[in-house]
Amino acid sequence: MILVTGGAGFIGSNFVLQWIATQGEPVVNLDKLTYAGNRRNLAAIDGNAKHHFVRGDIGDAALVGSLLREHQPRAVINFAAESHVDRSIHGPRDFVETNVLGTFGLLESVRGYWNTLPAESQQTFRFLHVSTDEVYGTLAPDDKPFTEQNRYEPNSPYAATKAASDHLVRAYHHTFGLPVLTTNCSNNYGPFQFPEKLIPLIIHNALAGKPLPIYGDGRQVRDWLFVADHCTAIARVLEAGAVGEVYNIGGWNEMANIDVVRVICAILDGARPRADGRSYAEQITHVADRPGHDRRYAIDSSRIHRELGWKPAETFDSGIRKTVSWYLEHDAWVRDVTSGAYREWIDAQYGAG
Ligand code: NAD
Ligand code: DAU
Repeated sequence: MILVTGGAGFIGSNFVLQWIATQGEPVVNLDKLTYAGNRRNLAAIDGNAKHHFVRGDIGDAALVGSLLREHQPRAVINFAAESHVDRSIHGPRDFVETNVLGTFGLLESVRGYWNTLPAESQQTFRFLHVSTDEVYGTLAPDDKPFTEQNRYEPNSPYAATKAASDHLVRAYHHTFGLPVLTTNCSNNYGPFQFPEKLIPLIIHNALAGKPLPIYGDGRQVRDWLFVADHCTAIARVLEAGAVGEVYNIGGWNEMANIDVVRVICAILDGARPRADGRSYAEQITHVADRPGHDRRYAIDSSRIHRELGWKPAETFDSGIRKTVSWYLEHDAWVRDVTSGAYREWIDAQYGAG
């Protein structure tokens, strides 16, 4: 079996659902259920004997140690993190606690467990750390996309804590021989993404008749990857990645934020027209820019394509249509996650009103 952390969040839950559907290998899913974690994401596998959910913190050495001893996983995949850049600007402490100290605690627990394994199991064991392209900093318009050789230049507290976690993972391989893999991925989108992130926030606000907030001029570029493609890439790296190596994962799909928002508005205009017959694009509102906002991210995915044969299955056109349809069909999920604490965040970030 495998141990997944953060498997009730956006990417983690997509990964667990895909894994159970395609691999048949049991999963122990350890998640703290912060505001970003949601048991409803996993409703489709409630009662499935191959999925064992445990609420807890990756930094809780007693809990993680006992899970490892009890279940004897052949791999640990670490998705657990504080993941939202804007929240890291409002309050970086949680990011240091989970992304740096939590990853450190997890590595220590895994190292302790790994040391007890017989030599053959030690060799085949893997610790796969899921990270981000934001560790590489920002690109100018003509710069080449990030390769695995790019220097680390994190600019937000979020990116700095992810960079620190990547360095710890690397060090545990070089110093202790722990068989690690690291993946650095670009912006994901798809089902179960919490509507604090750009794409689900825009869909949610559009349908609610609210402003569609664009930071600054909206010409910042991100490289969008459909979440199911990220999940297949992680499974492939786990299966065949070279120990100690890093794999960049991206969609070969750079788009400016304002263009992403216009595409969503056009799809909604067709799928769920506004009562007054006007376009959702009329709700677009430019707001103050994010402090330290990275201008452009782009991933060079040639290594994982060349060495492991992975490439994304979805184009942005097909992926964004699936995503908008999913949100239209899952209004109960959206209602559930946008109650309570969600409203406090929206008021803090965009102003009450
Ligand atoms: P998310 O915020 O949706 O989910 C994070 C999950 O981790 C939640 O379920 C939360 O409850 C859990 N968690 C938080 N702190 C924890 C702790 N201390 N112990 C146990 N569980 C904890 O994040 P996401 O978007 O699904 O991102 C998953 C991973 O992928 C993160 O490591 C993130 O840095 C990385 N990543 C995300 C993207 C993206 O576009 N979303 C892109 C590249 C990399
Ligand atoms: O690049 C990978 C990263 O992508 C991940 O590591 C992070 O966990 C993930 O949150 C994401 O970070 P971003 O900051 O790029 O994602 P976000 O959806 O917050 O913002 C995408 C872009 O849209 C960014 O340029 C900021 C902008 N934006 C965002 C929001 C929430 C807006 O213009 N308006 C908004 O209201």
